[in-house]
Amino acid sequence: MSTSATQAHHTGTDRMSDPNWWRQAAVYQIYPRSFYDANGDGLGDIKGVTAKVPYLKELGIDAVWLSPFYPSALADGGYDVDDYRNVDPKLGTLEDFDEMAAALHAAGIKIVVDIVPNHSSDRHEWFKEALASPKGSAARERYIFRDGRGENGELPPSDWDSVFGGPIWDRITEPDGTPGQWYMHIFAKEQPDFNWENPEIREDFLKTLRFWSDRGVDGFRIDVAHGMAKDLSEPLPMKAELEAKAHGTDGFADGSHPFWDRDEVHEVYAEWRKLFNEYNPPRTAVAEAWVHETRRARYASPEGLGQAFNFDLLQSDFDAASFKKIITDNLVAAKESGASSTWVFSNHDVVRHATRYGLPKGGSVAQGTNAAQDVTGGTKGQDGKGWLLAGAPAEELDVELGLRRARAATLLLLALPGSAYLYQGEELGLREVSEIPDAERQDPSFFRNPGVEIGRDGCRVPLPWTAEGSSFGFGAGGAHLPQPEWFQDYAVAKQEGVEGSTLELYRQALRLRSDLQTDEELEWVETGNQDVLHFSRPGGWHTVTNFGSDPVELPEGEVVVSSGPLESGKLPADTTAWIVRNS
Ligand code: BGC
Repeated sequence: MSTSATQAHHTGTDRMSDPNWWRQAAVYQIYPRSFYDANGDGLGDIKGVTAKVPYLKELGIDAVWLSPFYPSALADGGYDVDDYRNVDPKLGTLEDFDEMAAALHAAGIKIVVDIVPNHSSDRHEWFKEALASPKGSAARERYIFRDGRGENGELPPSDWDSVFGGPIWDRITEPDGTPGQWYMHIFAKEQPDFNWENPEIREDFLKTLRFWSDRGVDGFRIDVAHGMAKDLSEPLPMKAELEAKAHGTDGFADGSHPFWDRDEVHEVYAEWRKLFNEYNPPRTAVAEAWVHETRRARYASPEGLGQAFNFDLLQSDFDAASFKKIITDNLVAAKESGASSTWVFSNHDVVRHATRYGLPKGGSVAQGTNAAQDVTGGTKGQDGKGWLLAGAPAEELDVELGLRRARAATLLLLALPGSAYLYQGEELGLREVSEIPDAERQDPSFFRNPGVEIGRDGCRVPLPWTAEGSSFGFGAGGAHLPQPEWFQDYAVAKQEGVEGSTLELYRQALRLRSDLQTDEELEWVETGNQDVLHFSRPGGWHTVTNFGSDPVELPEGEVVVSSGPLESGKLPADTTAWIVRNS
């Protein structure tokens, strides 16, 4: 496929109207409650994003992706949505949203919002109506209600576990006060699953997608995109039966699992695609789908969502051979599906990569969320592989090594063809905050797995903007999750204009990336050293990463940026350099 028309390096209105703007975009994920608090109530807000548009512009990203900002009781950090077409009053108003959208667009930055279609919150008016209505009513048909097993329906319809731990079914009390039916929730009990066989649900989400598209939203990140479609024909299989049916390490790579990655979900996306294409430029979408790699292309198809996350690099150790294989395989897969590839090291669900790379190899990124979810609907990682990274003993963490490798890995990632997804705070070199007292934790995975999972709060701590002052400049009040003292050294104000700081490295790399951005091609260059990866992009842009322990010679050309200082002209351990050659 010719990709010359897909380059993302043009600026201003040119990029804003380019239908392919997303293909090689650098997308910065904002977790709004922890980004910047404009009104000083301890919670980041929409006006906070607007206030920081100059920062985002200076950073050099192409788009922001906003995690949910909808009305929510925050049972799952906003992924429990009360109302899909509104702004949480704790975060602002729709007018604030419009103002933010206008400011971002004026700065040449696109907006991607999170859509959570698998489940609503238990405070959604439809769920309240379902609880107040009798068994068999139309209101119950919007969710997944079943009678229990046992003589009096006292046993759940199946023994499946929820992703956050504990049973997937919860029993309700009927309006007349008697113990009643059970409802299904793949995640927390405050997140009842929608019944996607019900046309009313389908219609309502089309309305939501239109609502935000009409407000100028450029794209959508689809939460749990491999959920939604379900085959819950009775009798429901029990856990052991499901496990026996899973095909070894491939799990259910054939769409036969009752609620993960079923083929019917793509009918929904085909409908969404029609809607997206009514807009100019067409709205984009990226699937969060933790599926077998052979099934990812369906989500990324141009007739479907158009792009899908691959979490392969995010789940890999800092290792040359693994990186090379992952990059190669994903570029092939993306080409086959007509999408561009996606790359990501950190997000709001996993241990930050500056921590992962500072811990002994072989750990897992999971903290009790989707990364930990296996095809049987249970959780993996409880196999003694040491997945409580955020809670790992401090003495095992090599802070300096973690950051050095994180910088090297990011500089490599930013040179890859495809979209780069960055998570707020990584540009400051933040690592996971492990010192959050139990009493201040918020994540449901922590509460549903006492003593087993630490939860995801450690990557969601409000950003440090200044080295001093209340909540390190996050806002005039406190911070909704406690910030550690060491945050002061990572504050934006401490790094701005400081040569070699992580913030300046990101800025420089993002600026260069948009200048150097070219066709979506990559060629590996043989280095004769298994610990050194070297690839080139059309136009003479070369990237070399040293995963080994000894400094190595650099290829010919001008070093335009490096993730750490060179040593007598050589590339030291755990360092990446970009080189430009004029030939
Ligand atoms: C989101 C999580 C959330 C879950 C349930 C995920 O994929 O990224 O943060 O807890 O969906 O909505």
